Amino acid sequence: MQQQPPIDPRALARRFPQDFTWGVATSAYQIEGAAHEDGRGDSIWDVFCRQPGAIADASNGDVACDHYHRWQADLDLVGRLGVNAYRFSVAWPRVQPLGHGAWNQRGLDFYERLVDGLLQRGIAPHLTLNHWDLPQALQERGGWADRDTVHRFVDYAGEIARRLGSRLRSLTTHNEPFVQAVLGHESGIFAPGIRDRGVAVQVAHHLLLSHGLALRALRAEGVACDLGIVLNLAPIQPASGSEADLARARLEDGRLVRWYVDPLLRGSYPQDVVQALGADAPKVQPGDMEAIAEPLDFLGVNYYSRTVFNADGAVDPGSLGNPLTDMGWEVYPQGLADLLMRLHRDYPLPDVYVTENGAAFPDQMVDARVPDHARTQYIASHISAAADALAAGVPLRGFMVWSLLDNFEWASGYAKRFGIVHVDYATQRRTPKASAAWYRDFLLAMRASVAA
Ligand code: FCB
Repeated sequence: MQQQPPIDPRALARRFPQDFTWGVATSAYQIEGAAHEDGRGDSIWDVFCRQPGAIADASNGDVACDHYHRWQADLDLVGRLGVNAYRFSVAWPRVQPLGHGAWNQRGLDFYERLVDGLLQRGIAPHLTLNHWDLPQALQERGGWADRDTVHRFVDYAGEIARRLGSRLRSLTTHNEPFVQAVLGHESGIFAPGIRDRGVAVQVAHHLLLSHGLALRALRAEGVACDLGIVLNLAPIQPASGSEADLARARLEDGRLVRWYVDPLLRGSYPQDVVQALGADAPKVQPGDMEAIAEPLDFLGVNYYSRTVFNADGAVDPGSLGNPLTDMGWEVYPQGLADLLMRLHRDYPLPDVYVTENGAAFPDQMVDARVPDHARTQYIASHISAAADALAAGVPLRGFMVWSLLDNFEWASGYAKRFGIVHVDYATQRRTPKASAAWYRDFLLAMRASVAA
């Protein structure tokens, strides 16, 4: 991959409209640190990280990138990239330590400062309410498996919207309900570490329901910003044309893609998956599906790779002939174009944003620089795939790189680095990598094409 010629930022910039949104993304637990400061409550990730063996390097988000204290310098970094958007999340237990009852003013103040700091730098704030860090106190009452959490989330959404809504460009309810439901409650490799498929299915339903009810409540209050949700989606491809491989790929597409996009954009769960779930099918109350299908202003898509299935399961990505990232994920930019075009073909889409795309690679510091050509190539080739989708008519409005900083990569800990800015965790020193310089050059070329 590193042998390929670098993609020319100027040629690529010409393929996007001038009002396109360009951003970088982060999430609260992965960067903030200050986990026990200023009245923040525990989240399910604080507790999960204490379980022996849960995190590869036995680390946690207690300090992370110390962004809670370094946010101004970090926003300066964002500003120097030349992006016009920044996607971040609010840690619910920082603003409402128990997930119900009292609000924590010091926590709310932090996000007020952050949003104002973005606006002062001319960067549009894109806020996510739930990037996985549910207050632990709610987990102790049943967490997302308990229908009451839906209503607690709607209250939280309302409070954030009242405090910040008029200053935001967009508000996202949930990041990746699939990951929270399935990795958190079926495989148990993410917080809260539950292993029960029936629970996972009900969690996914409650996440979707709370999303729809929150949108309704925010609209009833007249919130000004765009409202949406972020899904992790991928093309699911059969390993061969055999009946068995096709059937498996179709079912896995149902579980990952249609299970979320169908209810959101069509108002119903895909029947083939409902049937396959049998007794684990979700418990749906009258009115739930209508709420979930509350119209979206935008759909956020996080894309990293495709998955190929044969009848027995996912095929080893290493056998597919393409390079792999440090996560073991296949580098497959074509999949982003395929995915976006398929969504456009199959669904009545609202505005679409690629809300995350990026890669972990084992970076090396050479003379105080990080020449991360593999990551640069990864990002550039995916932006190019996004341009293909745009040219094919997909209503794509923006693209955000995951991530601004190296950060706490969940169960993988700190060893996997996704940042376009390197973080030395011993000193908290930030060093923009070659990928950051490429992105800055690309955004400069975008602005030059505006001026031309
Ligand atoms: C996504 C998450 C994000 C980050 C990337 C690599 O699933 O939304 O927080 O961990 O993967």
